[in-house]
Amino acid sequence: MQIKLQYEPLEQIAADAVAAVVFEDNDAFSIDAPSVKTWLAELKASGEFSGKAGESAVLYNPTGLAAKRVIVIGVGKYDKFDVSGVRKAAGTTARAWKQKGIKTLAWSMKGAPNASAVAEAIVEGAILGNHENDIHKTKKDSKSLETFIVAASVGASLEKSVERGRIVAEAQNFTRELANEPANRLTPLILADRARAMAKEYGLECEVLDEDRMRQLGMGSLLGVAMGSSAPPALIIVRYTPAAAPKSADHLAIVGKGVTFDSGGISIKPAEGMEKMKYDMSGGAAALGAMRAIAQLKPAIPVTAFIPAVENMINGKAQRPGDIVKSLDGKTIEVLNTDAEGRLILIDAITYAKRLGCTHVVDAATLTGAIVVALGNIHIGAFSNNDAMMARVMAASKEEGEKMWQMPMDDEYRDLLKSPFADLANIGGRAGGSISAAWFIKEFADPTPWVHLDIAGTAWLDEAKPHMAKGPSGVCVRTFVKLAESW
Ligand code: BES
Ligand code: ZN
Ligand code: ZN
Repeated sequence: MQIKLQYEPLEQIAADAVAAVVFEDNDAFSIDAPSVKTWLAELKASGEFSGKAGESAVLYNPTGLAAKRVIVIGVGKYDKFDVSGVRKAAGTTARAWKQKGIKTLAWSMKGAPNASAVAEAIVEGAILGNHENDIHKTKKDSKSLETFIVAASVGASLEKSVERGRIVAEAQNFTRELANEPANRLTPLILADRARAMAKEYGLECEVLDEDRMRQLGMGSLLGVAMGSSAPPALIIVRYTPAAAPKSADHLAIVGKGVTFDSGGISIKPAEGMEKMKYDMSGGAAALGAMRAIAQLKPAIPVTAFIPAVENMINGKAQRPGDIVKSLDGKTIEVLNTDAEGRLILIDAITYAKRLGCTHVVDAATLTGAIVVALGNIHIGAFSNNDAMMARVMAASKEEGEKMWQMPMDDEYRDLLKSPFADLANIGGRAGGSISAAWFIKEFADPTPWVHLDIAGTAWLDEAKPHMAKGPSGVCVRTFVKLAESW
């Protein structure tokens, strides 16, 4: 979809539709044409449309406007108006109207509070809403918008915001496409190829450690998971280095779980719903998407992404419950459950990130079913060993509208991981399952400031939302990009 920024008077914008937001408790409205204002006043007086979030109404052939339609969109109370709301409103409008065959949608920005943030959000919303996970359908049943116009007031300067919105949302869609790829079309090595191609396109460095190299290094925890698959593993590393010498020695690592399929291994998962486990590389996909945007937005801090990519399968060489592996860090691990594989690959990647000089680590992983029980599909579970690092990630997520909830990491939870035969066990039992998983990673991340994001409940939409298609959500991309930019 093409994104345009136009400053000419709204009346002259030739589009299939021009959209404008309407508040529930305020007459602020961005279309001045008297015919439209009268219509809206009548509409409100009729009680058929009050401006509540989720409402919309259409006026055809508005007098005085070049556009074919005016769409008014309720966004609720003026004081509660936030950027997330307008992002969703743009997505909802794009989705609803593309399906009716509209090709060009304009969005009136006139008089918007916080114009730059709103411009960015509507572009993001439209690009995210226009995306369908249908690349493997030979007959597409959904339509798409061709052009989205940000109709700005004369004199506003919104180029940067519109551009940032486009970059970030396209990166998020890149992540969604990767996460949606089935495991037969996206093995660890294919994921590595995709990362290389992306890095080349955007001027990033990419290095891929193969199985032999990982064995030389001693990544026994990661390799133990990979053993059961005939698809070889890869540790994908993508580097962004700012052009100007950074002011501090800080170096951010973004680590993403890249399990291209999680059958559970010998601790096999039930058949029902197993097909969804192709998205067990959503954290890795988010890391790559974030790097794609970071390459274009050029923050001041060096950022390196690490994606341990493996397939968790069950051939004759598969790791067994009770096996003891030695991690890169040197600690031994008793693998009590082969389905708790995410933590086993993340820790070797995090240890390696630390060795390469990363000073701060954030990881994203579809790590535990327990986080879905705890927080449902709304909040990401956030865990940390460092309050300042947690505050940075939380602030970024808040600005980007990716909800997170901080989970406890008290020392008492450490006891859950005790093993009689090795330094620690890879599971801590059902109770507090997401916390013991996070504690497992903490054992290897310490003392480096680190935040772990459990996205098992938020990386996939089981049902389509009005503003987004069913399937991968691309969650964390926006937070990661903002985190790097705001460092
Ligand atoms: N990939 C799963 C976690 C998951 C579960 C993601 C449901 C999305 C939806 C992870 O590798 C896993 O299987 N975790 C186990 C851990 C358990 C064995 C301690 C789980 O959550 O059941
Ligand atoms: Zn698993
Ligand atoms: Zn998994």
